[in-house]
Amino acid sequence: MNIDSLTIDGGIPLTGRIQVRGAKNLVTKAMVASLLGESESLLRGVPDISDVRVVRGLLEVHGVSVSHGVESGDLILDPTNVRSAHMADIDAHAGSSRIPILFCGPLLHQLGEAFIPDLGGCRIGDRPIDFHLDALRKFGAVVDKLPSGIHITAPNGLTGATIELPYPSVGATEQVLLTATRAKGTTELRNAAIEPEIMDLIAILQKMGAIISVEPNRVILIEGVDRLDGYTHRAIFDRNEAASWASAALATKGDIMVEGAKQEHMMTFLNVYRKAGGKFDIYEDGIRFYHPGGELKPVVIETDVHPGFMTDWQQPLIVALTQATGESIVHETVYENRFGFTDALIEMGADITVHKNGLDGTPRRVPRRDLEQAAVIVGPTPLHGADIEVPDLRGGFSHLIAAVTADGRSRVSNVGIISRGYENLLEKLEALGARFTAEG
Ligand code: EPU
Repeated sequence: MNIDSLTIDGGIPLTGRIQVRGAKNLVTKAMVASLLGESESLLRGVPDISDVRVVRGLLEVHGVSVSHGVESGDLILDPTNVRSAHMADIDAHAGSSRIPILFCGPLLHQLGEAFIPDLGGCRIGDRPIDFHLDALRKFGAVVDKLPSGIHITAPNGLTGATIELPYPSVGATEQVLLTATRAKGTTELRNAAIEPEIMDLIAILQKMGAIISVEPNRVILIEGVDRLDGYTHRAIFDRNEAASWASAALATKGDIMVEGAKQEHMMTFLNVYRKAGGKFDIYEDGIRFYHPGGELKPVVIETDVHPGFMTDWQQPLIVALTQATGESIVHETVYENRFGFTDALIEMGADITVHKNGLDGTPRRVPRRDLEQAAVIVGPTPLHGADIEVPDLRGGFSHLIAAVTADGRSRVSNVGIISRGYENLLEKLEALGARFTAEG
């Protein structure tokens, strides 16, 4: 999407059918996993989003041939000619995604070294990589920090280790999985993330020949093997995108059938959706989300690791909560700065107060992390059009649905960032009846 801004005429319920394909947060990792194989992989259901293009570019500079298969969404990844990349080529991808950090293990196995450029990603806090680097060192990697990135080598190869994550980080868990599968010996990972996308990555690695067992209490055991082959796999659906459209239906008083959505990976979201007054019907081929008429109800949510309420679900839902009668509270416990997008909603008429150090004395399911923030949303407040700038991926989607919900005209700039994670965004908005014009 080479579009910079959208002018949106709001007040229109989004109604119709859209389709979600493979999860951004699995597909990009599955592409990296193909590097570990000795033969070609076929990944199915890959969405056309810019994060996929970034990873594709990084794979290609390392000699992986990437092509489209017969079906739309098929990617064929052939790592048989993997080679070291030129610094400048790798650097050309600096700053555009956090996925490059996951290249470390596979590149160390394949080439004995890895250069990882500065990491980008969304503006939602510091997003450090200390868990990743600590884990890599436990495997025997040596990390040199350079001004332009990190250079990693493994002079004595990589050996299985016992690793306890300080927090069940999704990325660090993936780092360990991708590194341990071909390390010598067994790795025991404690306090691992167990998100459905991680289970799907484990399924892919098992198809490739890995031996990975998921034990009780967030323990994952990986028995290293000498060789992995390619895989054929259809990616798990994007539950974050599905939840975004569900919230768009609620906020705009609409009715959206999300084809490809599955109940089993959205149960926590569905409970909250129901409590807030949203309705959903579950079908074999998707989930229909709709506003049943009448008032929406306030909810108290705390973002958490799986099986809790995902941090990526809160931003679009908050737009719907501005239309609920009463006070909602959203505790953000995963990132330290994920309410920046609410400034624009406030400008559009929402009553939202962000408490930067969290709220004391309010219901909370898990002990607070130091970085907790809370947003208190009082509704219902009519939203009116405004000129707003998209800050990050999920916050950006919220801005779009706020503009569709609002009375009058909004101009939403920097919308290109949303294409990192939402496929065919403009086509979908159009199919759902949104009225907008796009400018480059
Ligand atoms: N953290 C550290 N040190 C580390 C790694 C993480 O302190 O080395 C902290 C982070 O700063 C954050 C928390 O741990 O406060 C959680 O980070 P995690 O590693 O779990 O997240 P991630 O792997 O960087 C993925 C998704 C995010 C999603 C989170 C949580 C991808 C590419 N990104 O990020 O998705 O919010 O897991 O589920 O998979 C998005 O899709 O918009 C998005 C941001």
